[in-house]
Formats: sequence, C-alpha cells, structure tokens
Amino acid sequence: MQTKIGIIGGSGIYEMDGLENAAWVNVDSPWGAPSDAILTGTLGGVDMAFLPRHGRGHVHSPTTVPYRANIDALKRLGVTDIISISACGSFREDRAPGDFVIVDQFIDRTFAREKSFFGTGCVAHVSVAHPTCERLSDACEAAGRDAGITIHRGGTYLAMEGPQFSSIAESKMYRSWGCDVIGMTNMPEAKLAREAEICYASVAMITDYDSWHPDHGAVDITEIIATLQGNGTKARDLVARLPALLGTMRAPCPHGCDRALEYAVMTAPD
Ligand code: ADE
Repeated sequence: MQTKIGIIGGSGIYEMDGLENAAWVNVDSPWGAPSDAILTGTLGGVDMAFLPRHGRGHVHSPTTVPYRANIDALKRLGVTDIISISACGSFREDRAPGDFVIVDQFIDRTFAREKSFFGTGCVAHVSVAHPTCERLSDACEAAGRDAGITIHRGGTYLAMEGPQFSSIAESKMYRSWGCDVIGMTNMPEAKLAREAEICYASVAMITDYDSWHPDHGAVDITEIIATLQGNGTKARDLVARLPALLGTMRAPCPHGCDRALEYAVMTAPD
C-alpha cells in the first residue's frame, strides 16, 4: 500500500514548504467542513497532505476545531499516517520550552466536543489503550533527533478544553496525576484517527511551564509566541525528514492501528 503522510499543523504552523505539485484542495465531508482546505503534494517522492488544525488565520478555537471532519477528510484523501504537531505546556522541570515530546498516552479532560464517528445506527468501541502508533512515533523520534531537536520519547498529555489556560491548582493536580504535558487539541483527534484506522503519532512542542512552576509564574503569551516561532522552524525540519524514513510503500501497521475496527466491539450497521 502506498504511504500518504498527513500532517496536522497546530498553532504557528499554517503552511508547509517544499511540496512538489502543491495544491490546496477542498474536501467535502458528511461531518461538516474541515478546518481549511488541505495542501497536497509530494515530498521526497512520498504523498503528503497538510491540514492547518486551526485554519489559516487561526479561525478555530480548540473547542470549535471540526475534529471529525478533519480526520474524515484526511481519510478520504487516502492518508495512511497522521503526524499531529501541536503546542503544549510542560509539567516537568526536565522538559523545557523548545523541547519536543513524542506523546504516547492521554488523559482526556475535554467535554465540549464530538468524540466519535459512531453512535447512532452503528455503535463501535475501539481500543485506545495504546492511542498512538509506535512505528510512526519511532519515525518522528528519529526525524527529530536527526534534526538536532531535544526530543523526549514518551509522555502523558493532559487534554484540556480551554480556551483559558489552567489555574495553579489545576496545574498542580495534573502534575500529581503524573502528566508530562498539557494541550488543548490532541483529543478527540487521536481517538478519531483510531476509529478511522489511521496510524497517529503526536509531536508536542513545549512552549511554557503551564502555571505550576514557582519560577515561571503564569503562562506568558509573549514568551509562548516567541517559543512557538522557534518550534515551528524545528517542526518543519522534522517533517522534511519523515518521507525518507517512512518510504513510499507501507506494510500493514505491526500494531494494528490500521485494522482497529477488526478488534472493536461493534454492532452491525442498520
Ligand atoms: N498550549 C501551549 N501551552 C499550553 C498550556 N500551558 N496549556 C494548554 N495548552 C497549551
């Protein structure tokens, strides 16, 4: 099967350079309009599809991002592997602004989003015990290290509703739960990718220490924006290295992400 890499770009990442035969395409979805048109093309001979999660001009808040339409539109384009790139805050002293984390677990505290393609007519319960794809995460880690990025493999991402940042009490509580980073967008995105049988890896780029850190005070927007810009440059470098690592052809996912519904508890559609 041919590889098609989908990149979902978060805050600060609204374009993708270097694509051959680049074209923005509008994709219709029964789940509504995706965040934006999708930039398609090839990179190193591998098919690519880039979607700015918040839309160009940053028009969607974390709550209003049309997560189902986004994943469905990428599926319709034939995307086999999604790399989510997003900004996050850190709960750990040893995970500093400018570092990247390859997330492998989530705690989903979002509450105002549609979280499943299933529900009426056809009910399905997929496993998200391992919500990210190890094979794809390996490639992201290798690409990040090649690019000279300080990258941490593994971490638990607290997905909050937002759009406000956390209070100090919340921040300390999430830390006490063992969370490593916090962001507003990876859920329900990762769950929906699994339902759509698309491998999903999450590259979280640290911009701040959230509000728990006694020496860093509250989240400072000016600092976040400066760090975001530097992180964006690093993320582009990481992405540019992925096609060579993933190749043009792919075998079935060794972890079964692309066959998730075969293992799901599911009722027959009407
Ligand atoms: N995105 C970047 N920093 C964040 C933080 N501290 N909390 C939630 N989302 C974020």
